[in-house]
Amino acid sequence: MSRSAHPAGPRHADVLPEGRSAASTAPADDLNALDPKVWAHTVARDADGVVTVGGLPVTELAEEYGTPAYVLDEADFRDRARAWRTAFGADADVFYAGKAFLSRAVVRWLDEEGLNLDVCSGGELATALAAGMSAERIAFHGNNKSPEEIERAVRAGVGRIVLDSFQEIVRVAHIAQTLGKRQRVQIRITVGVEAHTHEFIATAHEDQKFGIPLAGGQAAEAVRRALQLDGLEVIGIHSHIGSQIFDMSGFEVAAHRVVGLLKDIRDEHGVELPEIDLGGGLGIAYTSDDDPREPHEIAKALTEIVTRECEAARLATPRISVEPGRAIVGPTAFTLYEVGTVKPLDGLRTYVSVDGGMSDNIRTALYDAEYSVALVSRASDAEPMLVRVVGKHCESGDIVVKDAFLPGDLAPGDLIAVPATGAYCRSMASNYNHALRPPVVSVRDGEARVIVRRETEEDLLRLDVG
Ligand code: LLP
Repeated sequence: MSRSAHPAGPRHADVLPEGRSAASTAPADDLNALDPKVWAHTVARDADGVVTVGGLPVTELAEEYGTPAYVLDEADFRDRARAWRTAFGADADVFYAGKAFLSRAVVRWLDEEGLNLDVCSGGELATALAAGMSAERIAFHGNNKSPEEIERAVRAGVGRIVLDSFQEIVRVAHIAQTLGKRQRVQIRITVGVEAHTHEFIATAHEDQKFGIPLAGGQAAEAVRRALQLDGLEVIGIHSHIGSQIFDMSGFEVAAHRVVGLLKDIRDEHGVELPEIDLGGGLGIAYTSDDDPREPHEIAKALTEIVTRECEAARLATPRISVEPGRAIVGPTAFTLYEVGTVKPLDGLRTYVSVDGGMSDNIRTALYDAEYSVALVSRASDAEPMLVRVVGKHCESGDIVVKDAFLPGDLAPGDLIAVPATGAYCRSMASNYNHALRPPVVSVRDGEARVIVRRETEEDLLRLDVG
């Protein structure tokens, strides 16, 4: 597998965030090797050099389902979901963050593996309910839930609504009361932690749209108001510090501050809130340079932090919940593309154009995200060449993989795959240039099935009512 090159970028020039080993600008020794860190568990190269997943050659998948396609390893998804569930045990809850990728099949897998679900829109809620997830196991998030969404969630009986503003406290209380219900809620606070991640995916510093700041007593005031409202049952405090985080110290500070608030609440109101949610955000390996932690290490670290902080504050340890999205689904899928054109630019690099692009993976353009890539329809011993994998959209920023090495004999018609695209790729896909969003094909034990079908031109035209 090729190793992404990481030219010194301005953000990471002097400090290497934890979880990231020294960047490599050289090709991996063997471009045919597939680093298990970035590929789904069942991915392997067969004797003919063709990459297989769930026992199926990618060449067959491409023929049957076309390209581009997201190929998802169901066994791997279940393994990772189970690993999180097991790591946290019966005294904690794992809510899969549906925004990373949600479909009815995924909801059923989560249900079977004993995970709960975090949704953040009416559409995600509808998908979860349509797949038969029990509403009690659903948490409803969002910084601007509409009154209709709130009403639907309350009527459905969701296990918790995570309140994000003073106005929402009143809104949810009013709706619940009108429906004759008492809604279980958590209050999302911002603890003032700067997560070492891209600005747009860091969420616990104060100058941003999510949550109620702890600073200046605002979070305490939110709790004060919520506790007075009959329509609400306040069950806990929520904090989500950001995404693609490797460094546990941010969680440590967050837990310390959340527990501090629980203590203040106990002192002021005489109530010990029974739950604390530390959100999601755990990083995954997009390239061989990333070193993510295992769920059991994360569970141990978070549980220890919360227990220690609660002991110090003489509080009973609350029930912990977490909301991993990317860490479960991210590594389980890759995007399969067909190479269309190969354009060497003398002294620079070779541009490899594929049949998708920023419409199926916006993360590179949006966050400067790094990905790996490999030739998967055959093995090759050709010399490595430095490539940029680009899409077919009318935009020069339409980059899928910024810097990587692929075999020098790469040619039109070859299949290449970009691993670790399970999270925030299909879910953030667009129809830019009227691209048809790719299908999600899940594979397991030698069988493939489409869990989200490819869009068609009829789909596009159906929305265009003339
Ligand atoms: N909980 C809350 C309240 C969240 O806002 C999020 C992500 C998660 C859990 C799950 O975070 P995860 O474990 O998946 O990192 N589009 C960006 C990521 C945005 C994340 C938004 N919230 C990306 O592609 O990196």
